[in-house]
Amino acid sequence: MAQKKLVRFAAIETYSNVLQYPEGMKGAWKTVFKNDHPITLELACGKGEYSLGLGAQNPDRNYIGVDVKGNRIYVGAKKALAENRSNVAFLRIQIGHLEQYFAPGEVAEIWILFPDPFLTKSRAKNRLTHPRFLAQYEKVLKPGATIHLKTDSRELYDFTREVIEEQGCETVTDYQDIYAIGQATGPLAIQTHYEKLHLADGRKIYYLAFRLPEGGVQVPERYLQATTQRNGKAVTDDDGDA
Ligand SMILES: C[S@@+](CC[C@H](N)C(=O)[O-])C[C@H]1O[C@@H](n2cnc3c(N)ncnc32)[C@H](O)[C@@H]1O
Repeated sequence: MAQKKLVRFAAIETYSNVLQYPEGMKGAWKTVFKNDHPITLELACGKGEYSLGLGAQNPDRNYIGVDVKGNRIYVGAKKALAENRSNVAFLRIQIGHLEQYFAPGEVAEIWILFPDPFLTKSRAKNRLTHPRFLAQYEKVLKPGATIHLKTDSRELYDFTREVIEEQGCETVTDYQDIYAIGQATGPLAIQTHYEKLHLADGRKIYYLAFRLPEGGVQVPERYLQATTQRNGKAVTDDDGDA
């Protein structure tokens, strides 16, 4: 493994604001933040620009950046410590395992920024707005909570709109080009690493906000058993590297 990655992994071991595959956190996040303010998750946070940006905009709310890649989390966690941002923390886990780390209703809101679009049909189940992920979010979100998606991918935007319709979710906001319509303001003005790259490429930025259906998310049967065998070891489809 590259030396830089090793240095970053060693650093986050010592950071008080990074939790890596922690045990016993379900229902216990108020002990991390030392308050019971509402918790927002930034899923696939990468370097955590939204956790840092929203954390600065809303000091009376708590933010947790979630990603499996420790070397990316390192960047946001280091900044949060330097800025003394005590309402921002980072959690290194697989997003598909959220329910192991949060109690029902412990999460007030979710942001998903520029997740991998997984363009091939066979990998569509890895999209973070696929019903099997929505079912995970449902297990930890407060009823009526909002899920926000920002993406440069027309395919992921269209896919998510289809899922929203099929599942009977409530659409809160639907913008097809936030910069063209002057909507890159407030929380939408925060830019992530990937957003900057996409803007430099002249790509449109889509934004969807929606709420899960009252009747519950329906996950097609074939996705309920997503665990497969790889090299004789049981793994889930979304297992990735560090
Ligand atoms: C394209 S990057 C976007 C990072 C950041 N949101 C941004 O806009 O700069 C996608 C991120 O999602 C993370 N990711 C993808 N699937 C994941 C999963 N199932 N569990 C945890 N992290 C995941 C990757 O590690 C990666 O950091």
